[in-house]
Amino acid sequence: MSKNALIMGIETSCDETAAAIIQDDSSGIPKILSNIVSSQFDVHKKFGGVVPDLAARAHVEKIDLIVKKALMKSKKSLNDIDAVAATAGPGLIVCLSVGLNFAKALSLSLNKPFIGVNHLEGHALSPKLQTKLDYPYLLLLISGGHSQFLCVNGLGNYKRLGTTIDDALGEAFDKAAKLLGIEFPGGPKIEILAKKGNPNKFKLPMPIINKGGCNFSFAGLKTAVLKISSTIKTEQEKYDLAASFQNTIERILYKKTQVAFNEYLKINNNYSKNFVVAGGVAANKNIRKKIEEISNENKFNVFFPSLDLCGDNAAMIAMVGLEKFKSKNFDSHDLEARPRWQLDENAKFLKGAGVKI
Ligand code: KG4
Ligand code: ZN
Repeated sequence: MSKNALIMGIETSCDETAAAIIQDDSSGIPKILSNIVSSQFDVHKKFGGVVPDLAARAHVEKIDLIVKKALMKSKKSLNDIDAVAATAGPGLIVCLSVGLNFAKALSLSLNKPFIGVNHLEGHALSPKLQTKLDYPYLLLLISGGHSQFLCVNGLGNYKRLGTTIDDALGEAFDKAAKLLGIEFPGGPKIEILAKKGNPNKFKLPMPIINKGGCNFSFAGLKTAVLKISSTIKTEQEKYDLAASFQNTIERILYKKTQVAFNEYLKINNNYSKNFVVAGGVAANKNIRKKIEEISNENKFNVFFPSLDLCGDNAAMIAMVGLEKFKSKNFDSHDLEARPRWQLDENAKFLKGAGVKI
């Protein structure tokens, strides 16, 4: 019997330097042998957001150490690796290039295949590291740069059902946090503050809630938080605003998920009703609860990656690498980084003023 494929994944699309080793398994669920993530929070904190050049420099400084750590933790040697997969896009080009070039060089020196991975596909397939999941399934991807409902028909085969017409959900969390005086990255801290607040204290808008199918809009919500935050005098009011903001997001996701279920069933009625929620914001426990509620009401099986697999990581990149490896879907060493790379390449661009939905 041939040995189970061993894949190295490398991720440097934004502000996390990450490397992982996973191994295919007869159970159908690959084993994560190591999954090392080094965040750059301290590098970017004082600027209130990610500074591309500083991020790229930090990746250059860390990448070999992180890859070495991933190898050591996996107890495998470089020669055991069957393929090297790295994020090729979307993301910051100066950051993507670091991981991509490192992976290409490694694959050349080992004489093993190189595989370029779409970061978003990594999020889309991340639950497959923990559960068996057949195509097709419905995906809600909620991260710092994206908020989309997609029908996942197969590897590299996506149909977008809805997207944001302005801010991504993680971006909305981070901007609201900034307005509340919370240090970058504020999204996860809103969840902590919200625990101490009254979710019904402030009434915030839910843009395009009754129109636009399962498309989203979050920019108006941020403007409302801006107005209220300038009137806030006490810490308790700050907690109340954080809780009201999060509660409004939960209600938007509840409503739009219902619309997405209906649209998904129109095209996939004969298949199992599987629903994956992935990306950094999927770590939010209240959001998880609300999405579980609407999924149960519609008899959809909902899957969330564990918390360590929600945010950016390299195990999810290796997961896509493994599926591509099995179908011998390798890339040439000429592959360039792609700062913009949609999962559904036929989907219309839906951002900016004057967008009609
Ligand atoms: O998937 P991810 O790690 O990176 C991207 O690909 O963008 O997502 C990061 C985003 C950030 O905007 C962060 O604030 C948000 O996910 N996030 C959260 C939580 N944890 C991370 N937002 C709300 N609640 C959380 N617990
Ligand atoms: Zn991500």
